Amino acid sequence: MPQIAHTIAVVGGTGPQGRGLAYRFARHGHDVVVGSRSAERAAETAAEIRDRGITGQVSGAANADAAAGADVVVLAVPYEGHDELVASLADALAEKVLISCVNPLGFDQHGPYGLDVSESAAESAARLVPTARVTGAFHHVSAVTLWGPEEFLSHEDVLVVGDDTEAVDLVCDLAATVTGRPGVKGGRLRLARQLEPLTAVLISINKAYKTRSGVAISGVEGR
Ligand SMILES: NC(=O)c1ccc[n+]([C@@H]2O[C@H](COP(=O)([O-])OP(=O)(O)OC[C@H]3O[C@@H](n4cnc5c(N)ncnc54)[C@H](OP(=O)(O)O)[C@@H]3O)[C@@H](O)[C@H]2O)c1
Repeated sequence: MPQIAHTIAVVGGTGPQGRGLAYRFARHGHDVVVGSRSAERAAETAAEIRDRGITGQVSGAANADAAAGADVVVLAVPYEGHDELVASLADALAEKVLISCVNPLGFDQHGPYGLDVSESAAESAARLVPTARVTGAFHHVSAVTLWGPEEFLSHEDVLVVGDDTEAVDLVCDLAATVTGRPGVKGGRLRLARQLEPLTAVLISINKAYKTRSGVAISGVEGR
């Protein structure tokens, strides 16, 4: 069981990334509310997670209801439509610890690439909900690996960026439910501009080596 159990809403939790993170959080004792534009779809995904045998409570709700009832909210939606969705949830997201794993990526005949955006998705969320305690994290863990059987993704690190140091610490602790060790503090929120497009490199590595690559940082053992 975690030292502090959170209630975590996963907006877009019916997709592979949100579902995988929800599973990992619930597997290690947090209560999770899967969010969706459809409460029915959210309930179906919540049941799918519960069927895997977890310790936390897992339920489903419409995105706004899920976010309103949580102390931590994960944004796990596509970049396309992100700003409209976040703006529509602004009241429910106010003052929450908000975790964005959203990667603004494009794909063309040469493969994946980081979109040329003026601000990262995490910074957009912070602009749209100024009182939210926004962090960027979980950009580089694969949805397939998250849904897999391993107890922990122990060869990977979760990089966490943000301007609110308490929120960053909380998310670093939460990362331990995924990797078995705290996340790595990666700097201020503006550095989400570097983290988000890095995922395009990992997808390219996956293709070249037919693997599911992740990020591991040396020199921070014993944190
Ligand atoms: N897949 C990965 O391995 C991976 C890894 C790291 C980071 N990420 C990032 O995590 C985010 C989610 O990835 P994903 O693969 O799970 O995405 P996804 O399956 O395309 O979308 C996730 C969920 O978002 C909701 N959604 C879709 N379009 C929307 C819109 N226009 N407005 C509001 N909600 C919408 C849908 O839920 P409802 O229809 O139920 O509302 C959908 O199930 C992305 O930003 C991605 O870059 C993904």
